[in-house]
Amino acid sequence: MFLNKKKEERVLPQHIAIIMDGNGRWAKKRSLPRKAGHAAGSKTFKDIARYCNKIGIKYLTVYAFSTENWKRPKEEVDNIMNILRDYLKDTENFKGENIRLQFIGERGPLAEDIKELMLKAEDDSKNATGLHLNIALNYGGRDEIVHAVRDIVSRGVKAEDITEDTISENLYTSGQPDPDFIIRPSGEYRLSNYLIWQAAYAEYWFSDVLWPDFRPKHLEQALDEFSKRNRRFGGV
Ligand code: IPE
Ligand code: IPE
Ligand code: MG
Repeated sequence: MFLNKKKEERVLPQHIAIIMDGNGRWAKKRSLPRKAGHAAGSKTFKDIARYCNKIGIKYLTVYAFSTENWKRPKEEVDNIMNILRDYLKDTENFKGENIRLQFIGERGPLAEDIKELMLKAEDDSKNATGLHLNIALNYGGRDEIVHAVRDIVSRGVKAEDITEDTISENLYTSGQPDPDFIIRPSGEYRLSNYLIWQAAYAEYWFSDVLWPDFRPKHLEQALDEFSKRNRRFGGV
């Protein structure tokens, strides 16, 4: 009975999280260097973020670089960081589009100029009331929990006062609803250390499409599917 719902009747997720995967394979299929895949993926990222804003999604979190991605050859890491640098320097990005940008992840190991550009992008967009866009950069779910625990302990919070909310409030996503829909393209079926605390009750959608080929029509397929899911949260 939930089939063929009109778009207006659809239940949209509050918070979509996407693992932007498959850039390397996309490039390989075209005999291009991996960096061409990352460049194409960066364009897809902008298109999908805009589309989410257009259809009224409140939160979108994209996985751009994991704490594990430092294992890649230095040249590839440098390429990814350069794409990020170019994106942050492009002042036309999302200008006037009411998108609020926030970075989540451990900033320490990032280059100084990138850290400054990140702060500027966050500050410039802090009053936007449309899509809240989190970019996960040097992000790892376990790393995030370790940092949260350290912060809690260093404030001298008593053991018996620690609740699930205490942990949630000390994560990078503090104050945001947990992602209710996690999308992973590229044919991989794993979280790869993404939002492991926040994902406890998320719905998942997987697709073989490689991220640079991911279009709003794929997101629409995913959203139609989300709308049909029966979320029980342990109840009946
Ligand atoms: C995702 O694409 C981008 C990052 C992890 C930075 P990949 O580079 O992982 O692409 P595949 O998985 O090798 O195809
Ligand atoms: C996850 O993709 C990280 C990002 C998309 C940034 P990976 O390609 O790094 O994940 P694994 O290695 O296949 O698990
Ligand atoms: Mg990958």
